[in-house]
Amino acid sequence: MANSYRIGVIPGDGTGPEVVTEGLKALAAVAERNGFSYDLIKYDLGGDRYLKTGETLPASVLKELKGLHAIYLGAIGHPEVPPGILEQGILLTIRFALDQYVNLRPVVLYPGVWTPLRDKKPEDIDCVVVRENTEGLYVGSGGFLRKGTPDEVAVQESVNTRKGVERCIRYAFELCRRQGRKKVTLCGKTNVLTYAFDLWERTFHEVAEEYRDIETDYAHVDALCMWMVKNPEWFDVIVTDNMFGDIITDLGAMIQGGMGIAAGGNINPEGVSMFEPIGGSAPKYTGKNMINPLAAIAALAMLLDDLGEESSGRQVEGAIKKVVKDDIKSMDAGRMGYTTQEVGDLVVKYISEA
Ligand code: IPM
Ligand code: MN
Repeated sequence: MANSYRIGVIPGDGTGPEVVTEGLKALAAVAERNGFSYDLIKYDLGGDRYLKTGETLPASVLKELKGLHAIYLGAIGHPEVPPGILEQGILLTIRFALDQYVNLRPVVLYPGVWTPLRDKKPEDIDCVVVRENTEGLYVGSGGFLRKGTPDEVAVQESVNTRKGVERCIRYAFELCRRQGRKKVTLCGKTNVLTYAFDLWERTFHEVAEEYRDIETDYAHVDALCMWMVKNPEWFDVIVTDNMFGDIITDLGAMIQGGMGIAAGGNINPEGVSMFEPIGGSAPKYTGKNMINPLAAIAALAMLLDDLGEESSGRQVEGAIKKVVKDDIKSMDAGRMGYTTQEVGDLVVKYISEA
């Protein structure tokens, strides 16, 4: 019998729904080609629902999400909702509650895509960031003392557990092997964060012992930012904590051509994973049919891979590569030479022709 999947769809805020629509067109095209089926379960989580009902992520929805095969997310973030409410209430809650402990973000420059790094070519920009996704500064540990007084104290703690660090590092080495890559670089700050990155460094070396065929390296996060710009070809797989991973993947997105093309996955290798374009909700482009849907379509390719539909994932990626090489002029909203929908149509066309 053909495989069948239950896929949760959270279009979310801003341009999220527009780009998700294009991703779902690509999904329909590969499903038809390759003969698998799926049900889409749509959830109206996001700023509009919050403004109407005060709800971010009801417990009943969270329970349902845990029973799916995968989740496809557009974007979360609404100009009328104060920062933090939707991000914590929806995005981080899903990452934590579903134990999506790796945030996987490929930084790949496809041929034909413009990079701000003048002398760098696709062969120079091809790495994957494995960002820890459930710990670090993101756990919300800390608090205020004497808030609002001149003696105010604010503490925000980075929580790093041996188990959490180890499973993330192990994932990076496994991924390195699986993708035929050569080197894993630990990105940290061992010269200042002498507790957290001491644990990371010791764990990294211990796990590396089990992967003698893989080269290892270390870079402080500040130096890594410098080298990502100057010598991106030095990097293959990068593993790092939640906060550093957040920062270096925005840098990575820029060198691979911008938010229009950068995708990522929140992965629980034993559970339910969630895939998303890594850019935000882009309120100023909402409803204008101008935003680049390729990041969302690339996230869909990662989702297919995660489901075990690797050949479908490759077909979607192949179609994206063709669009960026032959058709669209820029990755940026409004400068593509095509509308959001037209870019989605081109992807579908190339999937059907492949
Ligand atoms: C990301 C985003 C989120 C993060 C925000 C929206 C909470 O920047 O997915 O990188 O910091 O993880
Ligand atoms: Mn980010």
